[in-house]
Amino acid sequence: ARITQRLHDTQVETAPVRDALQSCTRCPLAATATQAVAGEGPALAALMIVGEQPGDFEDLAGRPFVGPAGQAFDALAIEAGLDRSAAYVTNAVKHFKFQPRGKRRIHQSPNASEVQHCRWWLTREIAEVQPALMLALGATAALALTGDGSKITARRGTVERGLDGRPVLITYHPAFLLRQQGDAERTKQTALMRADLALAAEMLA
Ligand code: URA
Repeated sequence: ARITQRLHDTQVETAPVRDALQSCTRCPLAATATQAVAGEGPALAALMIVGEQPGDFEDLAGRPFVGPAGQAFDALAIEAGLDRSAAYVTNAVKHFKFQPRGKRRIHQSPNASEVQHCRWWLTREIAEVQPALMLALGATAALALTGDGSKITARRGTVERGLDGRPVLITYHPAFLLRQQGDAERTKQTALMRADLALAAEMLA
C-alpha cells in the first residue's frame, strides 16, 4: 500500500506534553535518569520512528537517537532513501534505565510494566502527530505499538496493525546490528534492516 505523505507545515503544540513528561512518576525510572527524553520532529510527520528508550548519550543530551545507535540508524536511513528529518522520532520508554558499574552506566532493557506505564506518553504523541506509518525499531517498540512482545526475528519486514489500528512496520533496533559478531553476520542483518527502511520509504512515497 502506498501512503500519501502529509504536509507537515502545521505545527501541533507538543511543548505542554514535553513539560509534563519531566515531572512524570508513573514508573520508578525517573528517579535515576538525568531527564525524560521526549520525541522530536515535524508535528504532523507521516512517519513516526519508535525506539526502545534513551541511551546514555540521549539521557544527557535530552534528545532521542543522538548516540551510536542513532548514528548507525541515520547512516542506514540515508542509504535506504528514508528522510529522518521528516519523521517524528521517539522512544517507547522516555527515561534511561541502567545499572551503575563504576563510572559507567550499563543499559538495561525496560520491562513490560515500564513499557505499559510509559505507553500513556506514546499514545499522546501518536494522537498529536497522527502518523500514517509507524516504524518499530526492535522488540520493545513493537511491544509498545502492537501489544505483542514476541521475538521480532520472524516479524521484521512485515507490517502489523498497531493497538490503535495504524500500520506498524517492524524492523531491528540499530543497536542489534552494532552487537553482531563477525562481518558476515553484521552485513547480512544490516542488509535486511536497510531493506525494511527502503520499504518504509516506498510506503510513504
Ligand atoms: N536507543 C533507543 O532505543 N533510543 C534512543 O533514543 C537511543 C538509543
